[in-house]
Amino acid sequence: MCGIVGYIGSRDCTEVLLNGLTKLEYRGYDSAGIAVFQNGKISVAKSKGRLKNLEEKMEQENSRPFGHVGIGHTRWATHGEPSDVNSHPHSGGRVTIVHNGIIENYKELKDYLISQGVTFDSDTDTEIVAKLLDYRYNGSPIQTISATVRDLEGSYALGIIFADHPDQVYAVRCESPLIVGVGENESFIASDVPAIIEYTRDYYLLEHEEIAVLSGDGVQIFDSFGTPIQKELKTADWDVEAIGKGGYAHFMLKEIHEQPTAIRNTISPRIQDGLPNLEECGITPEVLRRFRHIQVVACGTAMHAGTVGKYVIEKLAKIPVTVDIASEFRYRDPLVGEGDLVIIISQSGETADSLAAMRLAKSLGAKTLAIVNAMGSSIAREADMLIYTHAGPEIAVASTKAYMVQIAVMYLFSFELAFALGQIDEAECRRLIRLLQQTPDAIQSILEHKEKTQYIAASLINADSLLYIGRGLDYALSMEGSLKLKEISYIHSESYAAGELKHGTISLITDNMPVIAVATQKALMEKTISNIKEVKARGAKVIMICRSSDDIDAEAVDLMFGLPDFEDILMPMIAVVPLQLIAYYTSVLKGNDVDKPRNLAKSVTVE
Ligand code: AGP
Repeated sequence: MCGIVGYIGSRDCTEVLLNGLTKLEYRGYDSAGIAVFQNGKISVAKSKGRLKNLEEKMEQENSRPFGHVGIGHTRWATHGEPSDVNSHPHSGGRVTIVHNGIIENYKELKDYLISQGVTFDSDTDTEIVAKLLDYRYNGSPIQTISATVRDLEGSYALGIIFADHPDQVYAVRCESPLIVGVGENESFIASDVPAIIEYTRDYYLLEHEEIAVLSGDGVQIFDSFGTPIQKELKTADWDVEAIGKGGYAHFMLKEIHEQPTAIRNTISPRIQDGLPNLEECGITPEVLRRFRHIQVVACGTAMHAGTVGKYVIEKLAKIPVTVDIASEFRYRDPLVGEGDLVIIISQSGETADSLAAMRLAKSLGAKTLAIVNAMGSSIAREADMLIYTHAGPEIAVASTKAYMVQIAVMYLFSFELAFALGQIDEAECRRLIRLLQQTPDAIQSILEHKEKTQYIAASLINADSLLYIGRGLDYALSMEGSLKLKEISYIHSESYAAGELKHGTISLITDNMPVIAVATQKALMEKTISNIKEVKARGAKVIMICRSSDDIDAEAVDLMFGLPDFEDILMPMIAVVPLQLIAYYTSVLKGNDVDKPRNLAKSVTVE
């Protein structure tokens, strides 16, 4: 999604903006631009494509602005194709803005402005906001912003500069995230912490319709009526190292390797005397005994983590769990209410559909529990109960370590729930916790012997399409393996419940459709092997992910990745690692932009 950076201070503003935007590249974008006050006038440079295109363009045209106040933007196209003209910043004349989000009533506003004689250059909803601000401008930026945002429907974070206020940067938000960084004699606005952490760790989190004014005197914040307010200054505890590649070729590879540490950081504070303890998250045995049904709502990888959770909760705690895609849940009149627990899983905590689904669940009377990685994000702030995953910043668009800790939390939660409901006794709960604590070592052992995954990836790069199959927890895991591969390798793939193949999909099998079979559940092993034989008999090349110790008929498979032996129920945490690595190496071998796959954004803050 779009990224915003703004700066006021004594540094070279263009450099700060470009540097900050580089740190937001992980969010996904297709064009970039900046607006900087140069000798009292606003100088704009923008370009379709990557930030390096913008830098090249400024160099070629000798148009790199120099100044100390400005705003910058990376755009992920929603209204209008990626192009120079649709790139931000957009100007309304006296007002220049950058915008993240979607203005839903843009058509109505545009018609009104056209009727007033205003003209437009771009196809964006953002230009309408710039023109509306300019149309309303009465010399008082705060009054103008406050009056204008009342007319906007949808989501927005705006960075704004006024031509006649060359010593100030303004910001306002509704739904889309925006922070205000406070340094020594300098201030920043940004969509996310990585953009500013090099300069300062102190920041304000802007809330709904709050307006920030950055000037030489520091930062002032006003409520939506223009009344000054005091806010708590937060401190980002992120390690600057954590947002660099640390010697790895890509963030994704680094993040895959960070998984053992991420699991330890996430589970250790929630285990006391060998038993799960989620009290600090508002979850006690008494609270857990109130629920008769659990609904998990999330998107993409987070939804797949919820699907693993469903199998584990139902197996151990014997409570029915339904899993829904947030964009479906929010529009299908869901039957949740009092007595239901709705779990929202999100790495970013800002996914628009997940946030809306959570609000809906709350309005229907359900209790909400958020499992979120990004501290202070909207979902984290609004949920009734909250479990932070401590994965640290995840930069690669393809989620790996966030998924890992999401499922680690689902295990912790399931163990505590099953124990609270008397479905497992204390000894069993302790045993499961001990096993969970051993998963980082098992994952480490895979990471130390990962070469085979490169070999498997090399065998896939010419395939047009792939199938991932499995049963039970292995099916839940195949969904994630398949998504990982398709999002970064651009090879089509589907995950299928192995037993369902015969009901239609097996007709697709040819010798150019490899099948990745995940088989870690002992009770289902024979059944999965029968399905493997069925696809093999129809020409498929079969790659099997199972325990090294499994006695597999060499004739039945073409390639195999052997996993360390571990308890069935926890195998998803182990088996996902080769699936992540296979996707990673396939993307690398195809020469793709692994960390920033085409058309994708890290944080989907619009519907
Ligand atoms: C994962 O690799 C994807 N990039 C995507 O499916 C992601 O998990 C999804 O958009 C949800 O994001 P969230 O966890 O930040 O809510």
